[in-house]
Amino acid sequence: MSTTSELTRLREFLNELIPSEDQLVRLYQNFCAQIRKGLGSKTNKDASTKCYLTYVQDFPTGNETGKYLALDLGGSKFRVLLIHLKGDSEAEQITKIYDLTERELHSTGVELFDYIAKCLHEFVCEQKVDNEHMPLGFTFSFPCVQTGLSRATLVRWTKGFNCSDTVGEDIGLMLKAAIARRPGLRIDMVAILNDTTGTQMSCAHRNPSCNIGLIVGTGCNACYTEKVENCERLDSKYKDKPKIIINVEWGAFGEKGGVDHLFTDYDRTVDQNSINRGSQIFEKMVSGMYMGELVRLILLRAVNENLVFAQCKLRKHITDILTKKPHCIETKVLSDIANDRGDDWPLVKDVFKQVFNLNNADPDDCMKFKFICDVVVKRSGNMIGVTLSGLVNKVGESFSVIGVDGTVYRCHPNFDGYMRETLDRFVDKDYKYDMMLSEDGSGRGAALVAAVVHRDYMERKSLNAKLRQ
Ligand code: GLC
Repeated sequence: MSTTSELTRLREFLNELIPSEDQLVRLYQNFCAQIRKGLGSKTNKDASTKCYLTYVQDFPTGNETGKYLALDLGGSKFRVLLIHLKGDSEAEQITKIYDLTERELHSTGVELFDYIAKCLHEFVCEQKVDNEHMPLGFTFSFPCVQTGLSRATLVRWTKGFNCSDTVGEDIGLMLKAAIARRPGLRIDMVAILNDTTGTQMSCAHRNPSCNIGLIVGTGCNACYTEKVENCERLDSKYKDKPKIIINVEWGAFGEKGGVDHLFTDYDRTVDQNSINRGSQIFEKMVSGMYMGELVRLILLRAVNENLVFAQCKLRKHITDILTKKPHCIETKVLSDIANDRGDDWPLVKDVFKQVFNLNNADPDDCMKFKFICDVVVKRSGNMIGVTLSGLVNKVGESFSVIGVDGTVYRCHPNFDGYMRETLDRFVDKDYKYDMMLSEDGSGRGAALVAAVVHRDYMERKSLNAKLRQ
């Protein structure tokens, strides 16, 4: 058994990854200041959280009907969906997943969109809907400046994507051009949206109190409903509707120093080793793409300081693997082992076997590994709970539902609880909140945006016809 002093040493060693109350308060204040800057027209250029206008101003009623196509690009897979909205908040969908290889991730934009159009074409032929000129919603989960619902200029790639000749280009036009290059493919792309917006919309479809969308997956980001009078950058012609969804792009928070007080050497190394150094700082501390890497770096240092695997015969071999194999600990592991109750540590031992080819690990080392993983996940959940509180308080409704999606949130048994720990501390006492798991936000949300755009178009058309009578 570990002596108490050994465990105390490990806890002390990990202390810099356990935010204190004061540090969380500072995080809250810095985040709220960035949101204010992001919304202001003069201050936006200096804000890390750009608070992009999405032009989504109509919300689902639950009565939407019709068939829609959706594309979902933003994680490790690319999906095409056919969604049938049936009213009464009901929907049926058919989804096909296409692999994205390194080739597509690092190709040119034209190649990427030609590949997307090819998959889309195959899909509509397979589903025998190639003759139905269907509306399509495109979930494109990267920071974009939008000038309308279907116009989105890519600001930067995140999450390991890096296609050339795309930054600064209109993604909607690129998709439309790729569709036009395929004879026989007739699709009407009516909206481009972020996955956070899709998540909020898909939850609002079932519960109208949903006014925040959150993703904790490969990347991390949130959106929320803002009053138009608080959006200085919004052209007055959009101000006849009371609200608009803002895509916060909070992954970039920290680029102006807002999280310096929580940033550790491990975070610095993760950033240095990434393909987008200096960018997406908050995201690198909390999201699925990076948490496994943080654990690798922490474990390596802990082994070097004789805090873990001190008595293990394979110690040298373990250090070699940890040093030479970046990404050898996947974030999925952090969720898998969270369920290990520690009787005989079967789940942790399984990871040690896979990663280090280590059999019969010492139970103390298993416990310490689980502790390290937990500290990283808890820091993420606690930090996200703080920034979410900033949005709940900003929305200022007596009751807010937060729609959530993403693999980290879905798969880690304690993640929801870690977020609630800080939400309960930072959400103003006058406001209540709840969280709701989204049913395929990126797919259904895109269909819903397409549907509400269509509804708005039909309403305007009938109003114009009446005015002409
Ligand atoms: C990254 C993207 C953002 C997206 C998030 C979750 O942060 O920049 O647009 O919402 O990942 O997928």
